[in-house]
Amino acid sequence: MSDTLSVQTEAPARDRTTTTTTAEPTVHAAPGTDLRTVDADPDFWYPVAWSSQVRKGKTFGVRYAGVPIALVRPEEGSVFALYDRCPHRQVPLSKGTVNGQTVRCCYHGWAFGRSGRCIDVPYLGKGKLPNGVRTYPCREAGGLVFIFPGDPAKADTVPFPKLGSVDNPAYKTKNFSPRVGCHYTFMHENLMDMNHQFLHRRQMGQIKARFLGQDKGENFIEARYSFMRSAGQQPLAERLIFGKHKDLNGAEHPVEEVVTIRTTYPYQTLQIRDKDGDLIMDLWTSYVPVDKEQRVTQSFGLLSVLRPQTPLLIDLIWPALGWFTNRIFLEDKDIVELEQQAWNEQGGDRNVEIFPVVKALRELLTRCGVPAGKGMPDTTNPDTAATPAPVATGAA
Ligand code: FES
Ligand SMILES: [Fe+2]
Repeated sequence: MSDTLSVQTEAPARDRTTTTTTAEPTVHAAPGTDLRTVDADPDFWYPVAWSSQVRKGKTFGVRYAGVPIALVRPEEGSVFALYDRCPHRQVPLSKGTVNGQTVRCCYHGWAFGRSGRCIDVPYLGKGKLPNGVRTYPCREAGGLVFIFPGDPAKADTVPFPKLGSVDNPAYKTKNFSPRVGCHYTFMHENLMDMNHQFLHRRQMGQIKARFLGQDKGENFIEARYSFMRSAGQQPLAERLIFGKHKDLNGAEHPVEEVVTIRTTYPYQTLQIRDKDGDLIMDLWTSYVPVDKEQRVTQSFGLLSVLRPQTPLLIDLIWPALGWFTNRIFLEDKDIVELEQQAWNEQGGDRNVEIFPVVKALRELLTRCGVPAGKGMPDTTNPDTAATPAPVATGAA
């Protein structure tokens, strides 16, 4: 069946018998599934790199759910994404070189175009060119490179996320992309559940979150909070951005900003509005599974802050803001990694959840996620996929 030059990819792929472009319905995780085994639904746009990491005429290797992906930026034209395995000997194409609209493998020089087709084998002469390599839909926005790791037939219809206020010149945006050793669902819970300010008491003084209400829909859950400071100093960066909130006697004093945290599957946002309802801080984040078990998460965040009336002020406070958010984030990173370690050691999710918002969030993440192993991108070589696999039976 296979000619000598067509090579199996190392595919841990889904059953796939044809290259039909009809979108297949997603099978979601069943209610009651251990949340930490639910894979992220790959039928969404996920950021995998900063645009600046993929330089002109270069490749950049990333991973999504255990699958290596080569991002390629030609000298001219947009970035494209290929399965990062040369079909010849499986070496990473991201180690190759970019010529025009092609990437040439570093080993024997096979060249692949943006469609994934093999377009040149330097020593082949007149022979039939070998099979190509799978590609993934790829887009750039807000300084990030996104891929669509799931069913490519859905890429055009699944909405592309709105990236907070990153494109609004009234805001200054800080990028961050920490890698965290935990399942992505811990990240959603951590940010959604503002009752954990206790963890940050050394950074933020004694702040109490007041739950104002929630909203939910088919693909989102939202919680709103205000904060009050019961004791302690307000940190400088916080004060410069949000103003001062302690009254003269240092008594508990409700601040008037409203913090809205929303998971709109699979993304998460945190917005802070001042007492006039103006959006003063706008955070957009995405949690991207790195490994096959999805126990390592690559976060990408865009934190946009409304520029104050005094233009220089934002530049003055910027380093302090970075330091402050980083300190808080490190505490969050430690705690979610401890949660993952406990899950590993105890062999499952033993959470006792009492907060309705987090209960609803956990339901949402299960309902919108997919069963373990189904979150991996298909790596099947599209040329070989046109031939029905001998083991596939009964597929309509
Ligand atoms: S391994 Fe890529 S060309 Fe041989
Ligand atoms: Fe936190």
